[in-house]
Amino acid sequence: MQQTVRVELGDRSYDVLIGPGLIAGSGAAIAPLLRRPRVAVVTDENVAVRHLAALQAGLADAGIEMEALTLPAGEATKSWPHLSRTVEWLLSQKVERTDVVVALGGGVIGDLVGFAAAILRRGVRFVQIPTSLLAQVDSSVGGKTGINAPQGKNLVGAFHQPSLVLADTEALATLTSRDFLAGYGEVVKYGLLGDAAFFDWLEVNGPALAAGDMAARVQAVTRSVQMKADIVARDETEQGDRALLNLGHTFCHALEAATGYSDRLLHGEGVAIGCGLAFELSSRIGLCAQEDPSRVRAHLRDMGMKVDFADIPGDLPGTAALMNLMAQDKKVVDGTLRFILARGIGAAFVTSDVPRAAVVSVLDDARAG
Ligand code: GLY
Repeated sequence: MQQTVRVELGDRSYDVLIGPGLIAGSGAAIAPLLRRPRVAVVTDENVAVRHLAALQAGLADAGIEMEALTLPAGEATKSWPHLSRTVEWLLSQKVERTDVVVALGGGVIGDLVGFAAAILRRGVRFVQIPTSLLAQVDSSVGGKTGINAPQGKNLVGAFHQPSLVLADTEALATLTSRDFLAGYGEVVKYGLLGDAAFFDWLEVNGPALAAGDMAARVQAVTRSVQMKADIVARDETEQGDRALLNLGHTFCHALEAATGYSDRLLHGEGVAIGCGLAFELSSRIGLCAQEDPSRVRAHLRDMGMKVDFADIPGDLPGTAALMNLMAQDKKVVDGTLRFILARGIGAAFVTSDVPRAAVVSVLDDARAG
């Protein structure tokens, strides 16, 4: 059942292995990268309870020793204090330039540890072992690493590609249903942005996948990673096509900021709502058929996901405030907001040519429910 996707980036190319049992088999997968049989692992306290012993045993099977640093779970860990703690711990472990650091966890751990690896001794190699669906299909692949700043999310960081990614689909069984579905928001995004047949497949197989069907999970993660790998190979540093991966994210970032990056809205939930809004906007300005946003919303509803503003607990600010939050998005270039819109399901493109009035009317209607 195991699949391999190659991310083609010249001498920084690497494999993403996808399938069940990869944590147990981690030693055999990682051993070829090592000069000496020893790795430094960074994880968080929730993931450590579930997976650290299995990782240790998997590494030991190949004679690899490990030391582990366990950080607090949660977005607040993606910060300067935990970055310096991690870097200093890696130095105290005498990690050398030829050694390998392992990031075991979700997106927070992957981004933080990847950044620590990027700056430690001017760059050491690292392996991503993503344990959340969101990290498996998005953040562990493509080399974006970093931390948050008081001024905003992901504002400090570096492109630093991993040397290997082990996406163990058995680890997904330990996620809450809410976390799984939030990650599924990013899976749907891939179908919507570039593969209509994959979206068709998700409409049929999404419920089985959410219920735990392992073959369906492997297939969905593999197709998502393949799409991301192709885009990253074309545009590693987001000069063009990589922005397609931000479908739904302009709306999502405004909603995340409006809800204080809190438990009221998980990132993947915001992406799903944002994808619905991006299709609604596309349809209103005549780019795609009215059936397309309806189909996107129907699938999210079928999956039991958040679709409307009313699904977000608590009050949201008015349209003007949401427009201001969108204007602070990282995708603003020379003061112009860039959107990812679509000519249909699977046909997204990047544009700055979006009438402000159309965005306002989409938000007004979303707020009115
Ligand atoms: N998560 C978007 C990207 O990696 O470009």
